[in-house]
Amino acid sequence: MKQQLPYTPGPIGVFDSGYGGLTILNKIRERLPEYDYIYLGDNARTPYGTRSFEIVYEFTLQAVNKLFELGCHLVILACNTASAKALRSIQMNNLPKIDPERRVLGVIRPTVECTGNITQSRHIGILATAGTIKSESYPLEVHKLYPDIQVNGVACPMWVPLVENNEAQNEGTDYFIRKYINQLLQKDSQIDTVILGCTHYPLLLPKIQQYIPDNIRVIAQGEYVAESLKDYLCRHPEMDIKCTKNNSCLFYTTEAEDKFIESASTFLNQQINVKRITLE
Ligand code: DGL
Repeated sequence: MKQQLPYTPGPIGVFDSGYGGLTILNKIRERLPEYDYIYLGDNARTPYGTRSFEIVYEFTLQAVNKLFELGCHLVILACNTASAKALRSIQMNNLPKIDPERRVLGVIRPTVECTGNITQSRHIGILATAGTIKSESYPLEVHKLYPDIQVNGVACPMWVPLVENNEAQNEGTDYFIRKYINQLLQKDSQIDTVILGCTHYPLLLPKIQQYIPDNIRVIAQGEYVAESLKDYLCRHPEMDIKCTKNNSCLFYTTEAEDKFIESASTFLNQQINVKRITLE
């Protein structure tokens, strides 16, 4: 398969099941403006959070292959569910066959790295999709680095559909925001740091901040993922191919272009170029 893929390294690929990865893309573009990007949202098949391991792996691999075909040599899974359920299998089983020089990175590890310096109480909370919570990826990764930190998580299955349906700012959303925050704090009242372990959730941040106690620090992942990617590119000069188009980004979606433009323009303050594609 290697010879069929474009050889010259092109843009950095950023993938999510839907709009959530835009919260990561924005921070990466701010931190690394000298690269070009391709964003791929599988909006037609979102949410991934309630799907099985096998399906998330299959869909994520299709997206990675598409981004490789489009010229990306480095792909960021800007999706915790895909990072939890598909990243390792793709790195171990697929990349050696597709092209051992290409790379796929996730968002969980860079997020977890920052927590050790932030929590004082050593009790942290994770709000994430059902798939990410069930995978136990956060507690496993946290305990590899910080065995003394207690981790409790709550799945928030309604939050992604609210974002995907453009309801993030609307009144009915408040009920579901309060509900999952209260569940988390009932599990552990000593939590002083809450990780938003789904890239859609920063799009709900104004409402999350409204219902979470002031003494709890809420962590959105974007800036930590961007910092970690910058560091990765410094350590891997073979990936460090700067493009000439200066921070350009092409957007691809699996749903109708006009729906993507309408919803994404709420989150992105710019004119965007969107193409519809099929993943298979
Ligand atoms: N934004 C994704 C995540 O970070 C997935 C949301 C979904 O499709 O359920 O987990």
